[in-house]
Formats: sequence, structure tokens, C-alpha cells
Amino acid sequence: MGTCNLQIEYPGRECMLDQDEEWFHLVTEDGQERIRVHEYDRVYDVPGLYEEVVYNKLQCDSPQVITGLLKETIERHGESDTSLRVLDFGAGNGIVGECLQEAVDTETIVGIDIIDEAKKAVKRDRPEIYDDYYVMDLSQPDGKDKQMLDRWNFNALVTVASLGFGDIPTQAFVNAFNIIENNSWVAFNIKDRFLNDKDDTGYNEMLQKMIGQSLNVYRKHHYCHRLSMAGEPLYYYAIVGRKENDF
Ligand SMILES: C[S@@+](CC[C@H](N)C(=O)[O-])C[C@H]1O[C@@H](n2cnc3c(N)ncnc32)[C@H](O)[C@@H]1O
Repeated sequence: MGTCNLQIEYPGRECMLDQDEEWFHLVTEDGQERIRVHEYDRVYDVPGLYEEVVYNKLQCDSPQVITGLLKETIERHGESDTSLRVLDFGAGNGIVGECLQEAVDTETIVGIDIIDEAKKAVKRDRPEIYDDYYVMDLSQPDGKDKQMLDRWNFNALVTVASLGFGDIPTQAFVNAFNIIENNSWVAFNIKDRFLNDKDDTGYNEMLQKMIGQSLNVYRKHHYCHRLSMAGEPLYYYAIVGRKENDF
């Protein structure tokens, strides 16, 4: 997207909040609006706002990191003619879809998000990226949803910056995992504290079991996902692997 003409005011570096509490002010002629970074419906409504806050100010690099690791892993462990039919789960306003198109050979990219504002932002800002985009809750997909998704024959699942923090619940991630075919590529990231013994979100327990039973992990990479509003690095794990069987 082009340069940002938005007027944004950020809290001082002393503002030590957890990620889902962080906020900024959007200043318009109507005044000052306080918006949380995780208030995605509001953030996506304003063209360029997500990009400016998350990618420019907070230096998030995760879409490039995850799609880059996926590319490297396929080159090292995959078949030479792999063309991906990707389910981008928690797709937001489409930045990951855009990176996927640049990084790997894609036959199809389909996005899913739980809010309508994400789909609207994709239509507005990145209309060429997705073959289809569904606003859907995969925690309890009905028969029609499953049928609609099955027909894409996905051979890759990508989820960036969408697990934990009240976003995608464990069961929805498991359901997405079970929709893709055996031998599919799986690439996602997750905050490091959700992938250790002290985690109480359920993600650590579920992922450790999944990795033991159904997911063959090729890469586990600890890296800085983005900065906090106070300028501190926030560390995530990037995981890339291959699905062996349903979980
Ligand atoms: C931090 S954004 C990441 C968006 C995109 N993947 C990216 O990296 O730019 C998290 C996204 O997850 C979506 N989300 C939250 N809960 C979800 C759910 N249960 N199912 C699907 N998407 C969900 C949010 O609406 C939001 O668009």
C-alpha cells in the first residue's frame, strides 16, 4: 500500500501492557479516537491503519518469516513440482496471502477470518490475492462449511499471528488442520509463552499432542514477531511441518 497519511499518536515507552491491551490514538478532524491494536474490526475499517501500526511502527515481520520458512522447507524436503492450495486461516486483511504469492508457487489461496471487516478490507485493498475468502467460525463448522472447504483439496495450512489471545481457539485450529489433506504443509506462529509448560491457554497441551501424533515438524524457529508499544521485542515460535494424519 502507499505512504501513510494517517495521524497516529502512540503511548510513551513507559506503557507496559500485554499485547492484546495495547492501544494508540487515531487523530482525525472529528477528534481523537483510542483504538486497541487487537480491535481488528475498527483497525481494518481504516485503509492503511493496520499496515502503519503493526508493520511500520511495531516492525512486525511474521508474514515474511513464516512464508520464507515455508519456502525453504519445501525446497529442502518437498517435491520439486509442489504447487500449493493454501488455506490462510485468520487471514485478516490479506498481507499473508500477498507474501505467499511472492514466496511460493500457489495454485489457490483461500482466506478465512471470523470478522466481516477483514473480508471487506481484502476486497478493498488486495482484491487480486484470494481465490475465495470466507467469514466463518471454524470452532463448530456445519456440514455445508465443511463441504465448501473440502472441495478446495487444500495441501497447505498457514496461520500467522492469529493463535491465542482470544483469537483462534484450539478447537478451531484442530478443525482447520483436519480439513487439509494428509501430507499437507503446515506453517504457523505462536507466542513463545503459549508453547511452554506454564501455558494455560490449552495451546501447549494441544500442540505437543499434535506434534506427537499428527504433525511432523521440520522447522521450529524462535524469533522476534514484533515490538511492543514500549519498544521491547515480542518473541514467537514459527513452526513448519507436514501433516501426517487427522488429529
Ligand atoms: C493479528 S491478526 C493477523 C492477520 C493476518 N494473519 C496477518 O498476519 O496480517 C489476527 C486475525 O485473526 C482473526 N481471528 C480471530 N479469531 C478468529 C477465529 N476464531 N477464526 C478465524 N479468524 C479469527 C482476527 O479477526 C484477525 O483478523
